Amino acid sequence: MTARIIDGIALSASLRAQLKEEAAALTANGCRPGLAVILAGDDPASRVYVRNKIKACAETGIHSELYELPATVEESQVLDRIRALNAAPHVHGILVQLPLPRQVDEGKVLETLAVAKDVDGFHVQNIGSLVVGKPGFAPCTPAGCMVMIDHIGCAVEGRDAVVVGRSNIVGKPMALMLLQRSATVTVCTSRTADLAAHTRRADILVVATGKARMIGADMVKPGAVVIDVGINRLADGKLAGDVDFDAVSTRAGWITPVPGGVGPMTITMLLANTVRSARMHAAQGTGTAAV
Ligand code: GUN
Repeated sequence: MTARIIDGIALSASLRAQLKEEAAALTANGCRPGLAVILAGDDPASRVYVRNKIKACAETGIHSELYELPATVEESQVLDRIRALNAAPHVHGILVQLPLPRQVDEGKVLETLAVAKDVDGFHVQNIGSLVVGKPGFAPCTPAGCMVMIDHIGCAVEGRDAVVVGRSNIVGKPMALMLLQRSATVTVCTSRTADLAAHTRRADILVVATGKARMIGADMVKPGAVVIDVGINRLADGKLAGDVDFDAVSTRAGWITPVPGGVGPMTITMLLANTVRSARMHAAQGTGTAAV
């Protein structure tokens, strides 16, 4: 079997075209969607992610503003910036790029975000909404994975889904989203005994471990849908996912490539959440056009 590719670039392009139209309509009605990004410190990967997010906003007609803070920033300065953005009517989404410098408490920062502007879906209240199946902002990476799974017409209800990785921003919310759709969900960690015994049962396998090519063909059920969230830089400078793409492609039914799979979808979901937030703020009369 040769797996079919789930093309995150093509899917993102069509979704972003729709979002661009929605952003233009909101702008014409006096409420241009606006995203504020806080980048503290000088983590090189974070800089690349933030640059890509800001570029995507510009291409979609979303206003963005970047607040760069030094690695030595005090926690209170980050919190003050967030409070100012919470109160700014032209800002509909606030994103604090993680990781934060050591002296800044991530939990305190995320809980200072206005829930209605938390387009990353990291505030405990938004996570709580996900747990109980209430509307809220869902984290962008697992939301993008769900859109990909739905896009190929993969049924979720009653299927065996295995998530490898238990991070707050991918593994846990991914498991909750699959559970909400009535999959039978297993969450594996780096300590799971006989990982392959679990992954081989998966109709839907989502891998987010940060370990290059750790999922081989013998760990995958024939015909499975394999979603690879990993982006790892190899010694030769090339990028590889957490899944051994060439090997697993001979066995899976569908597979996401790295790069060009989940990565672009994460940013697309951020744009979607920002446009949605602008629409909600406009409906409540709390959003005004960005400068
Ligand atoms: N760091 C790694 N991934 C993410 C993400 O999706 N959002 C934010 N804010 N920080 C991250």
